[in-house]
Amino acid sequence: MRLRSVYQALISGNTKLAVVGLGYVGLSVAMEFSKHVQVIGFDIDEKYIRAYRNGVDPTNSVGEEIQSASVEFTSDPTKLREAQFIIVAVPTPTTEDRSPDFTALMEASRTVGEHLALGAIVVFESTVYPGVTEELCAPMIEQTSGLKCGVHWKIGYSPERINPGDPVHTFSTIRKIVSGMDEESAGEIQKVYDIAVKAGTCLVSSIRTAEAAKVMENSQRDVNIAFMNECSKICDKSHIDAQEVFTAMKTKWNALDFQPGLVGGHCVGEDSYYLLEYAKKVDCDTPVLSHGRQTNEAMASYVADRAVQEMLAARKDLKRATVLIWGFTFKENCSDIRNSKVADLITRLRTYQIEPIVTDEWANPDAVREMYGIELAPFEELPLADCIIVVVGHRAYQSIAMEQLLKMYKNNLQEAEKILLDVKSIYPLEELTASGLRFWRL
Ligand SMILES: NC(=O)c1ccc[n+]([C@@H]2O[C@H](COP(=O)([O-])OP(=O)(O)OC[C@H]3O[C@@H](n4cnc5c(N)ncnc54)[C@H](O)[C@@H]3O)[C@@H](O)[C@H]2O)c1
Repeated sequence: MRLRSVYQALISGNTKLAVVGLGYVGLSVAMEFSKHVQVIGFDIDEKYIRAYRNGVDPTNSVGEEIQSASVEFTSDPTKLREAQFIIVAVPTPTTEDRSPDFTALMEASRTVGEHLALGAIVVFESTVYPGVTEELCAPMIEQTSGLKCGVHWKIGYSPERINPGDPVHTFSTIRKIVSGMDEESAGEIQKVYDIAVKAGTCLVSSIRTAEAAKVMENSQRDVNIAFMNECSKICDKSHIDAQEVFTAMKTKWNALDFQPGLVGGHCVGEDSYYLLEYAKKVDCDTPVLSHGRQTNEAMASYVADRAVQEMLAARKDLKRATVLIWGFTFKENCSDIRNSKVADLITRLRTYQIEPIVTDEWANPDAVREMYGIELAPFEELPLADCIIVVVGHRAYQSIAMEQLLKMYKNNLQEAEKILLDVKSIYPLEELTASGLRFWRL
């Protein structure tokens, strides 16, 4: 069956676009589309809906723009019937044993199916591996709607690439991969995204291709970061400054600009597990991917161990030393605390009977307590330290002058007894060297 043009209906105001799942991704998508067409924003979390309606953005992804939002925010799923273009952006995390967790995806598909309008196009943006959209989501929508995919409604996939905390790479400025189940749906989906994505779209030939592109681009980052972590460890053993090596490497025209670090968050740190699961399904051996993932998983412990080694070298009593951790979110200038590797760092420090004091002005203290059982301390109330581990390169930490940093240590310490682990290398090497601090960086 040929569907009436959903694109035409949208731009002429005869139908609405709905976004299902209004977190970091969904809110940005809904807000951007609402500048062009009528948008319904649906989420099961009433707290989020209340906040958005009150002009508050707890995700920090659109900031004050939320105050002038024209999105119709709702937790009433029956509103979805008014939309003929539905975008699903619900979480796709992993379980404790690191298997893909499709619970939210299946629940969202069920809801979409229960309220599906005839002739609608449903596009999934959640990160998955090839086959999930057509083999899991479509059947669930068919089952709950009683409508046949490809006959009464159509399906597509367009992976999301937004970069939280990055004002340059946003929903409308990143080129968007789009795909549909057939030529007609692919064309409609591309036209609809072209309304809001200034950077344009990249149409691929199948939904499976688009699914693979997303999970592989993030896994590519994971593996490359793992290699930089290994290089950094080799340099550490050799008393060579890894950052100086990486800067020198980058003078070559084809060098890759990756940095070592703790890989957390909801994307890069999780997506490789989706690809590993898929590789298993198609019986493909992936030693680079699996070892890369293991390397990155072990980095938080590595940093903790290095902190302990530095403290022992400075003759600290580990049980009595005051260890501060600056930063808890998975990356700089962003409030997202999911899959934070700082929690692993703390767990490892505790095995040495060290109870660090953690601060992060970007993270919501209640959310950190609820998710990890960790209390955050306000930065201004931090005690004077023996050891400071700067894990996240938030702007506020970068702007601290060396003179001020030195004053954050206990008064009775010699410079060489003041320990700094600058995990993200945010302080200039010359200043660190001149300060006399005992410092280490990745
Ligand atoms: N956060 C990112 O920067 C980013 C970037 C690219 C891709 N992604 C991918 O996009 C997807 C969404 O990620 P996110 O970071 O926005 O997640 P999120 O957790 O911030 O938001 C998801 C929202 O979905 C809602 N939700 C859960 N189940 C629902 C249901 N059944 N019906 C309606 N709403 C429901 C939640 O309440 C939440 O508000 C994931 O697959 C993620 O991997 C995320």
